[in-house]
Amino acid sequence: MADVKEERSNEPTYNPFTQQELPACKPLLVPKLVVITFMFIGTLFIPLGAICLQASSEVVEYTQRYDDLCVQGTSNADRETNLQALNGAGTNCQVSFQVTEKMKAPVFIYYELHNFYQNHRRYVKSRSDEQIRGDATGAMSSCEPKVYTGGEAKLEVSPCGLIAWSFFNDTYSLAMNGQNLPFTDKGIAWSSDRKEKFGNQPTLNFNDIPEYRGGGSISGPLNENEHFIVWMRTSALPTFRKLYGKIEQDVEAGSTITVDIDNRYNTYKFDGKKKLVLSTASWLGGKNDFLGIAYLTVGSICFIFGLVFLGLLCKYPRELGDVTLLSWNKAQKE
Ligand SMILES: *[C@@H]1O[C@H](CO)[C@@H](O)[C@H](O)[C@H]1NC(C)=O
Repeated sequence: MADVKEERSNEPTYNPFTQQELPACKPLLVPKLVVITFMFIGTLFIPLGAICLQASSEVVEYTQRYDDLCVQGTSNADRETNLQALNGAGTNCQVSFQVTEKMKAPVFIYYELHNFYQNHRRYVKSRSDEQIRGDATGAMSSCEPKVYTGGEAKLEVSPCGLIAWSFFNDTYSLAMNGQNLPFTDKGIAWSSDRKEKFGNQPTLNFNDIPEYRGGGSISGPLNENEHFIVWMRTSALPTFRKLYGKIEQDVEAGSTITVDIDNRYNTYKFDGKKKLVLSTASWLGGKNDFLGIAYLTVGSICFIFGLVFLGLLCKYPRELGDVTLLSWNKAQKE
């Protein structure tokens, strides 16, 4: 024996791993197991779905579209002409929300844009993370096509790139029952963005040279302008909401909130819509029934299948064959 072993020195030593004989879970889908699995998923998912729906139903949310109300005109082309005649100053208008259900603080203020493809590949890439971090030697070629000022001088524009260029510039002020309603814009951006991704440098050739800024201007150091930080986190879908502020007091049922809007941002050119949203939040986030409905649907389908198979099992009981043969490990050992 010893000689044979030496001759075959390449042969691995025997163990269950090298011989692929490790114990493994190979469930045999016998009818009983199938019924139990379906029933288990059903009884787990149906209550989960109900909990999610309950959380979503506790959220109070009000939405108002305003882009069409705020500029005169019958078509978007008309409205665009009327807006541009004002040279960026924009129009002023008001929308009001009748609050019929108490809103517990904090009440979030969002603006919602439609048909705005912040996810376009060339748009998403058009930024320089080094530059907004304050790294002077940072690469800027990624900012194409909004990098340098034109002409001979070729001065650096900071923040560069299309995302910064198209910064949203509508502003809102709120009143409740005729009284000014204060809200804060502190803490609306991710704190990691504020601390790590944005530096405290001021803008360069951005506010002062209009062609290098397509949207709003930026005041103060970048990491203090949270509206800008929020805007720079691009959205994955063409309809999106961005946080604008937080009202840090309860809003009682029966109040009227009037929002005074400075409508400047040109969404008319691409048939976009602008909406303003006031919403509370639950532990699960904003108002969204999808998760609850998804859990309920999957749970009920599983439960029904479980019942059907249970019925079939009771009505037509059938002797199973020798299932031990299906298990490779067992068959080997015998
Ligand atoms: C606001 O943004 C629009 C582009 O949508 C621009 O034309 C306008 O000049 C900007 N106005 C101000 C005051 O920044």
